Amino acid sequence: MQKVKAIYPGSFDPTTNGHLDVIARAARIFDHLVVAVLNNSEKSALFSVPERVAMLSESTQQFDNVSVATFNGLMVDFARQQQAHAVVRGIRAISDYEYEFQMALMNRRLAPELETVFMMPAEKYSYVSSRLIKEVFRLGGSIDGLVPPNIVERLRERAKRNLGQSDGDI
Ligand code: PNS
Repeated sequence: MQKVKAIYPGSFDPTTNGHLDVIARAARIFDHLVVAVLNNSEKSALFSVPERVAMLSESTQQFDNVSVATFNGLMVDFARQQQAHAVVRGIRAISDYEYEFQMALMNRRLAPELETVFMMPAEKYSYVSSRLIKEVFRLGGSIDGLVPPNIVERLRERAKRNLGQSDGDI
């Protein structure tokens, strides 16, 4: 039987437990899952792409059918290059749906053979986003339980490093 490969594209700046929950669910359904970090210099990111790849690799090492890669340009071109059959995107709430629906239909127009599969993370992560994680951490709030421990550690290191340089902002 043909093996079914999916890609899970995103910014992952940084990885949250919501992302990991989707990865765990997708890894159960697909034979192989490629977590694909967008390498986009236009978007101002907290972590560099190599740092994000390292964090994702650390957090997904328990899955032997999950790998981490980076991509530039159109996601559908990367999916074709990978010979992927599906694209996984997480939907936390109805508010995510409109943008995701537009993106899925545009991607379908560009690559009709590629199917977008929406997956819901556990409801306990339904309010968790990379943007809010960075904001809460920056303002001194607890993000324990919302991101993997290695990412709390990296955020702390980043804040410490920046403290030496300026005002300690991440
Ligand atoms: O984690 P994000 O930022 O919500 O991920 C968005 C991402 C990376 C999946 C999306 O911006 C993307 O696919 N970008 C690559 C460029 C592309 O293919 N654009 C057309 C989308 S229809």
